[in-house]
Amino acid sequence: MGIGRIQIAPSILAADFTRLGDELKRIEDGGADLIHVDVMDGHFVPNLTMGPFIVEAVRRATDLPVDAHLMITEPERYAQSFIDAGADYVVFHTEVAEDPRPLIDAIRDAGAKPGLSINPPTEASRIEPWLELIDMVLVMTVNPGFAGQSFMADVMPKLRQIADWKRERGLGVLIEVDGGVSVTTAPTVASNGGEVLVAGSAVFCADDPAAAVGAIRDAAEGGRL
Ligand code: DX5
Ligand code: ZN
Repeated sequence: MGIGRIQIAPSILAADFTRLGDELKRIEDGGADLIHVDVMDGHFVPNLTMGPFIVEAVRRATDLPVDAHLMITEPERYAQSFIDAGADYVVFHTEVAEDPRPLIDAIRDAGAKPGLSINPPTEASRIEPWLELIDMVLVMTVNPGFAGQSFMADVMPKLRQIADWKRERGLGVLIEVDGGVSVTTAPTVASNGGEVLVAGSAVFCADDPAAAVGAIRDAAEGGRL
């Protein structure tokens, strides 16, 4: 379906934070394309994780683009802090933004790339009007909150619908898929139009995280054919 190279975005939610710099170095050596940072506020999701402080540390440890996934109820309140900390992509949820346009514009005006994310139960129509305006659409394949959950294959028709809109309109928006992505599920993700694959446990819980990055990419690229 796609023509660009599949990109892999390891989620540091599953990394060993006592040695974050080493973890980042390993996945960089493995050919990771983006660093995915899962920001949770204990309101939008039932978990608390990282803030701009962690993004700033990641920024100092790697030159790879940082993809900040804001699972928070008030993204307009914190987006600028993540941009100041060095986030390249700032992705917020369509479920918390009746009209996402002002924040999309604010993120772009501040020099970062705006993205919108969509939870498994949310219909594709919620994201459809904004595809021309964003750089990333993040399709969740688990209910957000925790690493290590099972991939929800029933999201695939929605992923394919979004990929069809992208193709029909010739859009540049990247289609990112997040949740339960592994060598097993990557072919399905890619065959339905996923282009940027987020992987937490499948990378950082592997014996060799660098090799896992390559294996997930190979599996996805095989699935595309
Ligand atoms: C889930 C997060 C994901 C998660 C992915 O709420 O948005 O990025 O860390 O972890 P795995 O790949 O283990 O499902
Ligand atoms: Zn995420």
